[in-house]
Amino acid sequence: MKGIILAGGAGTRLYPVTKVYSKQLTLIYDKPLIYYPLSILMLGGIRDILIISNDETIPLYKKLFDSGNNLGLNIQYSIQDKPNGIAESFIIGEKFIGNDNVTLILGDNIFYGNLSFFYESVNEHKNGAVIFAYRVTDPERYGIVEIDKNDNVISIEEKPKIPKSEYAVPGLYIYDNKVIKISKNLKPSARGELEITDVNRVYLESKELKAKKIGRGVAWLDTGTPEALLQASSFFGVIEDRQGLKVACIEEIAYYKKFINKEQFATVVTSLPKSDYRNYLEKILSE
Ligand code: DAU
Repeated sequence: MKGIILAGGAGTRLYPVTKVYSKQLTLIYDKPLIYYPLSILMLGGIRDILIISNDETIPLYKKLFDSGNNLGLNIQYSIQDKPNGIAESFIIGEKFIGNDNVTLILGDNIFYGNLSFFYESVNEHKNGAVIFAYRVTDPERYGIVEIDKNDNVISIEEKPKIPKSEYAVPGLYIYDNKVIKISKNLKPSARGELEITDVNRVYLESKELKAKKIGRGVAWLDTGTPEALLQASSFFGVIEDRQGLKVACIEEIAYYKKFINKEQFATVVTSLPKSDYRNYLEKILSE
């Protein structure tokens, strides 16, 4: 299973900060936003990761993660010239995906809680597409999936004016290798984008789309607006301060998932500047 993080886009709703840097680098409590989706892929056991963004931001991600080797990862980078749509990820990522299956996560999607719904889906996945369904109060803002009693998908629509259900499709998708061909055959939508919902509709038509409901114990947080970013920061601030444990600490996850051994972990920790972040990792190293 390969992993793609799509972390470009215009981010105009967060202007003026997005005039100079990418939304996915904004701080969520104590670390950049992109750490959260990256940690989800890592927790799912995915180590080959492609980060897609615009040409201005790719050098910043490279500075942040480099090749990922120090964390036992293989991180590659590709440029998306313009925000032509989420499904363009699979066209840009064609070479990287090769003959494998692929999980896509949007660089601004945050999940927190019991993520077994995702780990199990990645482990079990062989063919077709798996999407998730999360109950929201503002369904007209998202891709919306209608599901029957047995979790079969009845319909899927992008930002419908009159939503058929309250279940939004979060930016986390698992596909087999057909997704490359399907994306290449898509026509741009009315808003001029290659829509991920159109990819999912092709899988639905060939009866290869599964939707799994995410339970109420999981938080799927929005990061689209300044208010939403503040809420996400407060949320993780409360949790981290209460437990003394960090969320989405990629160095800790690499060690915990055994992507790196203790010696490699020690090298990572001692290379960090003096900070609370380093103090935290030093504590884990000494345990
Ligand atoms: O967050 C989940 C929703 O994401 C889904 O429910 C929708 O079905 C899906 O279309 C998408 O909806 P949005 O319209 O909210 O996506 P947005 O255009 O905001 O893009 C999501 C992220 O992906 C954002 O951080 C920017 C990035 N992006 C987007 C596009 C279209 C890119 O990097 N390149 C792109 O071409």
